[in-house]
Amino acid sequence: MPSLRLRALAATLVLSGPLVALPALRASARPSSGDPAEGKKIFVVRCVACHKANGSGGVKLTGNPTPDWRDAKRMADPKHDDDSLRVCITNGRPKSGMVAWGKTGQLKPAQIENLIAYIRTFSKK
Ligand code: HEC
Repeated sequence: MPSLRLRALAATLVLSGPLVALPALRASARPSSGDPAEGKKIFVVRCVACHKANGSGGVKLTGNPTPDWRDAKRMADPKHDDDSLRVCITNGRPKSGMVAWGKTGQLKPAQIENLIAYIRTFSKK
């Protein structure tokens, strides 16, 4: 009898393995825990010229235009998860004219988190 119970336990562990592993696979997509109100304060000073006050973008400098952050479908795409926004704000997109705010030390990681949280509000209206 104990061996049966043990086997059942083993089966449970094996079966739940993939379920436990799934979040680990997505662990790189670390969601932002920033404060959108704080993010807005930076946004209106440093980002608004290219991304527009309502996040609509459409400003083209040397490459890709700024994206439309009001587009909820676009923003729900894993390609545009918080990690991708974080990488872009940190390293910039030199070809398109997007500034490497993090790498150049112009913004601290906590400020970048606040900006990500604010950017998310445009598609939640
Ligand atoms: C000089 C113009 C300019 C300024 C100022 C600017 N950006 Fe950008 N940004 C761009 C351009 C152009 C792109 C599109 C890059 C591409 O797709 O190649 C972009 C892309 C991005 C992206 C990727 C967005 C996505 O959904 O794919 C993020 C995030 C971003 N900017 C955040 C910011 C933040 C935050 C600020 C202010 C601290 C800022 N940007 C200021 C020009 C600018």
